[in-house]
Amino acid sequence: MDKFVIKGGTKLLGRVRASGAKNAAVAVLPAVLIADGPCIIENLPMVSDVAVILDILTVLGADVQFIDKCSVRIDATGALSGKVPVDMARGIRAAYYFLGALLSRERRASVPMPGGDDIGPRPIDQHLKIFTALGCECDVEYGIVSVKAKGELSGARVFFDIVTVGATINAMLAAVKTPGQTTLENVAKEPHIVDVANFLNSLGADIRGAGTDVIKIRGVDYLHGGTYSIIPDQIETGTFMAAAAATGGDVLITGVIPKHLESVTDKIRMIGATVEEYDDSIRVKGASGIKPTNIKTMPYPGFPTDMQPLMTALLSRAKGTSVVTESIWDSRFKYVEELRRMGANIQVDGKVAIIEGVSRLTGASVRVPDIRAGAALIIAALAAYGDSEIEDICHIERGYEDIVEKLKGLGADIERGYIPEETLMQAF
Ligand code: EPU
Repeated sequence: MDKFVIKGGTKLLGRVRASGAKNAAVAVLPAVLIADGPCIIENLPMVSDVAVILDILTVLGADVQFIDKCSVRIDATGALSGKVPVDMARGIRAAYYFLGALLSRERRASVPMPGGDDIGPRPIDQHLKIFTALGCECDVEYGIVSVKAKGELSGARVFFDIVTVGATINAMLAAVKTPGQTTLENVAKEPHIVDVANFLNSLGADIRGAGTDVIKIRGVDYLHGGTYSIIPDQIETGTFMAAAAATGGDVLITGVIPKHLESVTDKIRMIGATVEEYDDSIRVKGASGIKPTNIKTMPYPGFPTDMQPLMTALLSRAKGTSVVTESIWDSRFKYVEELRRMGANIQVDGKVAIIEGVSRLTGASVRVPDIRAGAALIIAALAAYGDSEIEDICHIERGYEDIVEKLKGLGADIERGYIPEETLMQAF
């Protein structure tokens, strides 16, 4: 098993290019199943969640061929022969997109209950609400979610009870070829919602309003193939912004869409760092001290929950008290225990963390509970005095492409190490 070994205390300096957005890629790839021609998807991040989605497509019977490191040609126009394997679906949340995509294509779908990060209950009632409204029977039995058209599917009007990224995207996948108009209200507005709509529209779909509260979809009979490039990853970009600020560094992140990061940029400025925005890059210059601030996570364009652990790590060294409130997930502060090993002074009460900034963090051996928590522990280790060892890095590699190489390129002292099997056995 691998680990990251980090010697802290180096300012990050230089430029780094953002990869494609993981959460857009894991939705666009299943959407290829609905196309009536082959598709080329470019700017894919080479992370393990994307690899799992490509594996599922292959198991289902699609022809998946890499063109280069970040581009893949997928021909799913032949008959599908396989099922979504339980072990693959349990590893990633985004497996639920195969429900919407297969339903659209086959008028039925059976997908094992998706897994993903352990950050709180992850129900799929809103996904089932839209499938039911379009005319499906839905069942969850023996760990399998099954949806099946009762007769002809037809467009519907649905008001989501809560703002959900996954159900908004699944609704677009399910409705894109459903006859009539589907109107989705109280939808999520994240950049990857717009990216999925743009992808489908580039193939001939009629989806309007993505990025606002209301999406209207007029079902079409046919979607041709095409070439599409995934948007840059705003959370990876935000991670490098936080890392630059935490180490007092100076980092230019290129190939990004600054508009997607407005709420993050605002908070990074409030803690005292300088942020310069250009057409497709962002430069962050850290200050000598970090000012405290308060953060509440909200659906886009509010402050993203996926940046919450990173800002908590950053604020753990602020001069004063910060309050971070998580309003999307029920238990997204599990990593705080690991930050405390590094000397952070953070009290968690339910969905609120009160952070008393300390003058220094110290290196420690820590374990990663989930993807963004892992990135937060990297940031803390980069800013800490001494050496840290970060274990369970498989979570980080679900969503961060070439993280070691990218950080090394900015001057970080980070190496990939190996934990011998005997050591692991002793731990149990
Ligand atoms: N929810 C329901 N019912 C549903 C769906 C969601 O109650 O049917 C609740 C959830 O329990 C949660 C809230 O609604 O409390 C928001 O969930 P959402 O559906 O928006 O989340 P998701 O689609 O499961 C995606 C990202 C997450 C990110 C959230 C919020 C992917 C694959 N995952 O999850 O990303 O935190 O949106 O922005 O797109 C990450 O990348 O680290 C990550 C966890």
